[in-house]
Amino acid sequence: MNIEEVGIIGSGQMGNGIAHVCALSGYKVVLIDIAEEALNKAMQTIEKNLNRQVQKNKISQEKMDEAISKITTNTDSKALKNVDLVIEAATENFDLKVKIFQGVLEHIKKDCLLSTNTSSISITKLASTTDRAEKFIGLHFMNPVPVMKLVEIIPGIATTDEMFETSKQFAESLGKVVAVSKDFPGFLSNRILIPMLNEAIYALHEGVGDIKSIDTTMKLGMAHPMGPFQLADLIGLDTCLAIMNVLYEGFSDTKYRPCPLLVKYVEAGWYGVKSGKGFYDYSSDTPIPTR
Ligand code: CAA
Repeated sequence: MNIEEVGIIGSGQMGNGIAHVCALSGYKVVLIDIAEEALNKAMQTIEKNLNRQVQKNKISQEKMDEAISKITTNTDSKALKNVDLVIEAATENFDLKVKIFQGVLEHIKKDCLLSTNTSSISITKLASTTDRAEKFIGLHFMNPVPVMKLVEIIPGIATTDEMFETSKQFAESLGKVVAVSKDFPGFLSNRILIPMLNEAIYALHEGVGDIKSIDTTMKLGMAHPMGPFQLADLIGLDTCLAIMNVLYEGFSDTKYRPCPLLVKYVEAGWYGVKSGKGFYDYSSDTPIPTR
């Protein structure tokens, strides 16, 4: 199982970050999205983030130019015909992901490997909707992808050992460190992280403390690089809610119920950094707490 060319579906914050690290590690990348505009925005983000690395002397200008030249973008899945591995990084929605894989299967090589960057949806269930469950795996990158060292690998029940080993080698070839999780709701990372963020939102909702106090508590008291509200805004409140719902439904346990205040923010379209407003308002240079 040799990987030279990677197809990435979805050019949002995770997809463009994955394209960034793959191209920087020498892989040819085909980045797919439904809208040309989204792809242009993704390429601008990749350039901006590669530039940061050049400015900080982490990579040379030559390496940056080489990485950019390795990425092609397309709105048509036909462009995936030569890829060796697909990484799906679309929105956290099961039906959408199934539809994407169905659209991809008719164009890819017979031995092309499949993976998803889902942060909580069952790998086994997604794999079973394809024609190659044994070559299907969860490759869960962390945001911001160029910075965070972890890739969580989640084999489904049908994933072969060979597929697991290839995926592990692939993640390590990107300079990442691997942690392995069994395929249960939220896997390891989000089973622990997202209920913590949800609990912070409950503390706010119940008036135990305001956003600033809660974020300061976790940053200065527990040495977290970001407070829970900053982090929830970075991940996206819609994603946080989707993951809480997967935990709630997957374990049928009320301890995972999403905080009504989180639901309210998502209903308002206040998704966090990506929409310009979440628990903080990002319309000025310094983010301002919304309560
Ligand atoms: N691309 C490239 N480089 C980037 C970057 C990006 N997108 N974002 C930040 N950087 C670089 C900066 O240039 C800087 O480099 P140096 O160390 O060389 O100076 C470094 O990363 C630190 O960035 P900043 O100085 O701008 O800011 P910071 O020190 O506050 O760090 C942070 C920012 C790395 C995001 C840090 O706050 C952090 O680690 N936060 C926690 C992030 C986290 O927990 N992510 C996981 C989210 S959960 C998830 O993703 C899974 C899920 O399924 C929900």
